[in-house]
Amino acid sequence: MSDPLVLGIESSCDETGVGVVRGHELLANEVASSVEEHVRFGGVVPEIASRAHLEAITPALTRAVDAAGIDLADVDAIAVTAGPGLMGALVVGVSAAKALAYALDKPLYGVNHLIGHIGVDMLDHGPLPGPAMALLVSGGHTSIVRVGDIATDVEEIGATIDDAAGEAYDKVARLLGLGYPGGPLIDKLAADGDPSAIRFPRGLTAKHDRQKHRFDFSFSGLKTAVARWVEIQRRDHGEVPLADVAASFQEAVADVVTAKTIDACQEYGIDCVVLGGGVAANSRLRELLAQRCEEAGITLRRPRPVLCTDNGAMIATVGAALVAAGVRPSGLDMSADSGMPLNQICL
Ligand code: KG4
Ligand code: ZN
Repeated sequence: MSDPLVLGIESSCDETGVGVVRGHELLANEVASSVEEHVRFGGVVPEIASRAHLEAITPALTRAVDAAGIDLADVDAIAVTAGPGLMGALVVGVSAAKALAYALDKPLYGVNHLIGHIGVDMLDHGPLPGPAMALLVSGGHTSIVRVGDIATDVEEIGATIDDAAGEAYDKVARLLGLGYPGGPLIDKLAADGDPSAIRFPRGLTAKHDRQKHRFDFSFSGLKTAVARWVEIQRRDHGEVPLADVAASFQEAVADVVTAKTIDACQEYGIDCVVLGGGVAANSRLRELLAQRCEEAGITLRRPRPVLCTDNGAMIATVGAALVAAGVRPSGLDMSADSGMPLNQICL
């Protein structure tokens, strides 16, 4: 089927998203966030997120259907995030999707959230060329993924061995006293800082690490280095140049993830990079990746920032690709899988 009409539901973390797409065309993308309710805890509280999803899901669904101007009876399939994510949060979206699929008698696809972050770019730039190299940078994952076909063939070729990039942003923001979520706050603060002020470490780039972990990442050493630097600065000078720390930290992250992505493209003979995940909204990462791709003769595909953070349209997009490829639906007896592996596109 070409250009299937698909409704997608996302509820893996703190955003309740319902999106509608027709093939690669975005028709609606409604997102309700519970982030404000988590701020005072400095991170997402699963119980609060689950309750917020329950309250937000029906209004978000109504708004998405209205905004898309569709009749629910006309959708070709329902897609929902099956994992990875917080179990109690995932089941809210999965239950809603099952109810819809059952009531409307439509096929149901349990989609991998991470593949959604990669596939969402198709809403901005059309079908992905096969193969493409995806750089996936989110709050829970940081990976390099070879994408042969978004519906049938993905392979993780590198991943973080400790913290994810977004996690590092959030932890560094906390130790700088900036608040939560840290990514956007560091991004903003870094604009007034000098990225070369402090040379923070680039994880897994030393020669001996490159043998075993050429396409892998590590951010826990970077986080510790920032903590130590700030502590010494406070002790010796009383004051910390926050903007310089933010800019230098951001530079270290952007430098290492972009260098490894270009290296992976060259190793695998791939000339297209697609950026995805919440951290893909980061201004310096977007800029440096564009610069390095251009130097290497690689085409870069960057979805607009609003599509980078969690949303339902990204799930609907993968759902549409699955329908178009004739992939078997997951069925009404599917269960959420909080640890769904990246190589599994759909349940
Ligand atoms: O993909 P996402 O929305 O949720 C997960 O699937 O994890 O990513 C959330 C992460 C958070 O860690 C947040 O701090 C980070 O994305 N983030 C950013 C920016 N916007 C969001 N990190 C750096 N710069 C940004 N502008
Ligand atoms: Zn995400």
